[in-house]
Amino acid sequence: MGAPLVIAIDGPAASGKGTLAKRLAAHFGLPHLDTGLLYRAVALALIDAGTDLGDEAAAARAAAALSAEGLNDPRLRERAMGEAASRVSSVPQVRAALLSWQQRFAGGPEGAVLDGRDIGTVVCPDARVKLFITATPEERARRRHRELAGRGEAAAPEAILADIRARDARDSSRTAAPLKAAADAVVLDTTDLDADAAFAEALALVIRLGSL
Ligand code: DC
Repeated sequence: MGAPLVIAIDGPAASGKGTLAKRLAAHFGLPHLDTGLLYRAVALALIDAGTDLGDEAAAARAAAALSAEGLNDPRLRERAMGEAASRVSSVPQVRAALLSWQQRFAGGPEGAVLDGRDIGTVVCPDARVKLFITATPEERARRRHRELAGRGEAAAPEAILADIRARDARDSSRTAAPLKAAADAVVLDTTDLDADAAFAEALALVIRLGSL
């Protein structure tokens, strides 16, 4: 049947898009790429090298040198890395280097699920299914707080909410591939949904939009 199934999932920080993407990929037996990890890996490479995060040329070189093995480093999931990744992600040469990486992944014969900020708009504009996952900043902050506490990384809830607002502002206002829903994406607001209810809604949307 037709082209391979590519599912593009975008949304702001801590919207639950990663969990949904992982579950949808498992359900359909598709490979999954959390594209935020690529930007986090670029930021971590700079931090490990003692290079300033504002050094755009060094960030572009780190993006061009990115390897798949580097994406398993548990440090990538730490709270500070989200902010650092958001900073390097505004550099156009970083985005360009990571674009081909992501498109190679999405172009495999079995299809794929990718989650990020610009999958439906830039990386996979022809994806058969595009979802944009949102929730209020307060609800996203509560979820991130629970997730970090579960990993033993304590942080004040107000500080997490401030992080989320700052990241929303930066990710939405940058010139290169800003966070926004594709014109043909379906928006799913998960503010009042628990993880299982959100998955059930997302699955129903994928089945309908993908004609599955
Ligand atoms: O999804 P995340 O929190 O792991 O992403 C970290 C940062 O990376 C995010 O704040 C902005 C950037 N990013 C991006 O610009 N484009 C993507 N497709 C994914 C992430």
